[in-house]
Amino acid sequence: MSITIKELDKSLTIKVADNRTDIERIAKFDNAVFDERVGSLCLELFLNHPNTQINDLIFVENEKGEVVSSLCLIPWEWNYDGIILNVGEMGIVGTAEEYRRQGLIRSQVEYFKQLLNERGFDISIIQGIPYFYRQFGYEYSVPLERNCIIELYQIPDYSEDERPKLSYRIAEKKDISEIQRLYDESSKSLAINTKKNENIWRYLIEHNPKTGTAVDIWVAEDNGQIVGYFLIAKHPFGNALTVAEVSKLSYDNALDILRYLKKLAIENNKPNIRLNIQSNCELIKTALYHGAIDRGTYAWQINIPDMVKFLKKISPVLESRIANSPFLGLTEQIRISFYTEKVSISFDKGHITSIDKLELTDGWYEPIRIPPMSAVPLFLGCRDRKESCELWKDMGASPKYSYLFDTLFPKMDSCIYTIY
Ligand SMILES: CC(C)(COP(=O)(O)OP(=O)(O)OC[C@H]1O[C@@H](n2cnc3c(N)ncnc32)[C@H](O)[C@@H]1OP(=O)(O)O)[C@@H](O)C(=O)NCCC(=O)NCCS
Repeated sequence: MSITIKELDKSLTIKVADNRTDIERIAKFDNAVFDERVGSLCLELFLNHPNTQINDLIFVENEKGEVVSSLCLIPWEWNYDGIILNVGEMGIVGTAEEYRRQGLIRSQVEYFKQLLNERGFDISIIQGIPYFYRQFGYEYSVPLERNCIIELYQIPDYSEDERPKLSYRIAEKKDISEIQRLYDESSKSLAINTKKNENIWRYLIEHNPKTGTAVDIWVAEDNGQIVGYFLIAKHPFGNALTVAEVSKLSYDNALDILRYLKKLAIENNKPNIRLNIQSNCELIKTALYHGAIDRGTYAWQINIPDMVKFLKKISPVLESRIANSPFLGLTEQIRISFYTEKVSISFDKGHITSIDKLELTDGWYEPIRIPPMSAVPLFLGCRDRKESCELWKDMGASPKYSYLFDTLFPKMDSCIYTIY
């Protein structure tokens, strides 16, 4: 029996899944609203993924007991410069056509946000359709879906006296610990990255292949030693052979992988290769030197449910930024106005002693002013103060506080590789 959360009216009820049958009927609903790969994703996520809980699969049922709308909560962990953030993704959002525009997603989002608060998630994320999620307080931030294209002719063939340097094969479960080691090493170049563990790699190898987010995991070996890996998306947007993740590589290995990707593209009738990977990695840099064009990214839509809680969570990072700056030893209460709320960060000899919400009674003005939606890309290092001020004319600070602001919230390299 599914669990009732709220009756919306006599005929429609918000429920959460509580058994395999519920998961199966929601997956069937997803087949109809999206396609079978999304249905399979729902099944695999809620039957086999190490991060999910069955009760986080939310749906609306009509009087006939049919599922007519659904969304779910998928927990992730993101590493924010050494701090682990608890991240709640809103996933697989859909309503049956005849029930649209009746507020069913809005009602489920209300419950979803309640879950975020009850379980103390630091941020919430969505990789969804444009614009729609702004109404629920989500703002475009961390890069998603990079579109860096290299044409096959731009990748040089081996000359007569050259041979392929590496050998390639699809990863197996026995490779997981080595892939994990390479992942941990590679993710150090990203201030914000996904925290992955061996259970997630196992899920990607064992359960992901049936879903819309399926990937082939390739390992590259040099004399029998794994020296790198890359993921190829099986159902990407567009026609290109799409690389969805890559490890750290030497220049020679990056070039050898580009040549192997060219071979795969030709074998699979792909016109070119898309690198949907972090902009600072060796594979992209090597491709750019060979003429690839980076057309930029879409972005994760992100909401910070509780600003004070988030700032408290990242306070060790803020302290370390102050310690490595001319503000070393700072003793001051820094007051920030988000216009709809105000927060103070109290420093004593460079250490944060408290972060508090302030009363709005004295008006909106404070030494640092940040409109609420611009705070998300700023705090997640996607845009710095100067770039944000170009976009948001109501963001500002006096010279000293601008310097402090830049010290506390610099731009950060980020790339979020998938857990499913
Ligand atoms: C997008 C979708 C999930 C919306 O579901 P829904 O149940 O109609 O959403 P709601 O009725 O709760 O809509 C909430 C608000 O958004 C508005 N809205 C609905 N669809 C919208 C759309 N496509 N674009 C912009 N606003 C939209 C509604 O009018 C409502 O505003 P209001 O409360 O001020 O009247 C639904 O159209 C759908 O399933 N589409 C196909 C699958 C899809 O694209 N899913 C999203 C994948 S990320």
